[in-house]
Amino acid sequence: MDMMAVEGRREEGMGIEIGTGTGMGMGEKIETPVIVLNVKAYAESMGEKGFELAEICEEVADEKGISIAICPQQVELALIASMVNIPCFAQHVDAIEPGSHTGSVTLETIKEAGATGSLVNHSEHRLKIAEIDFIVKKAASLNLLTIVCTNNIAVSKAVAELKPYAIAVEPPELIGTGKAVSKVDPGIVEDTVKEVRRVDEGSVVLCGAGVTNGEDVRAAIELGADGVLLASGVVKAKDPRAALLDLVSGV
Ligand code: G3P
Repeated sequence: MDMMAVEGRREEGMGIEIGTGTGMGMGEKIETPVIVLNVKAYAESMGEKGFELAEICEEVADEKGISIAICPQQVELALIASMVNIPCFAQHVDAIEPGSHTGSVTLETIKEAGATGSLVNHSEHRLKIAEIDFIVKKAASLNLLTIVCTNNIAVSKAVAELKPYAIAVEPPELIGTGKAVSKVDPGIVEDTVKEVRRVDEGSVVLCGAGVTNGEDVRAAIELGADGVLLASGVVKAKDPRAALLDLVSGV
């Protein structure tokens, strides 16, 4: 998409009342398999580049009929949620009630922004278990979905007791390496699926770290995962649309 078109969509987004969103309804479950793109704070996902990534996700999701969700940079969450018709997640929320907390993000704020939910406890933004518990419970009461990130099987099992919407297991040492967890460490995916389902049969289980292509996605699904959580494979790709199309081919 050229910059004029991106600008046009941005203006369009700005004309939409923030919080109404054009995306899926709050608390609605997402069809699986799902590809969740976390754009992190990469330079490649700032401002207009972030709008373009969101547009690409929406277009590929529509074209291929595959669930794709995006976690925009936090400052663009409201705008992107109002621009695209795919689930938008915050990258992080704080375990607080609205009030005197400078620089914090509340669940109420992301709901107002039109988000479907939030990532919680990402490896790059860890929380205490009591905070995860607070966020998961409060999100459910607000009809927001939580995708709680975990680093291993034991933590996944513990988090499953809290009954989040989804658990995304991501071995930190593989993040950003391009070496997919589903290929390099299939056991962690398979056993996380098994153990989480033992605790909470209905839980969505994702895996992430190093996922870059359709083969990695296929391997994840064959191991029992309901989808993948990824970042650099698309955000830092020379051609993010081609990278996403490749990923989708594995579903
Ligand atoms: O949130 C996704 C993530 O931590 C994995 O990152 O770059 O290895 O896909 P990446």
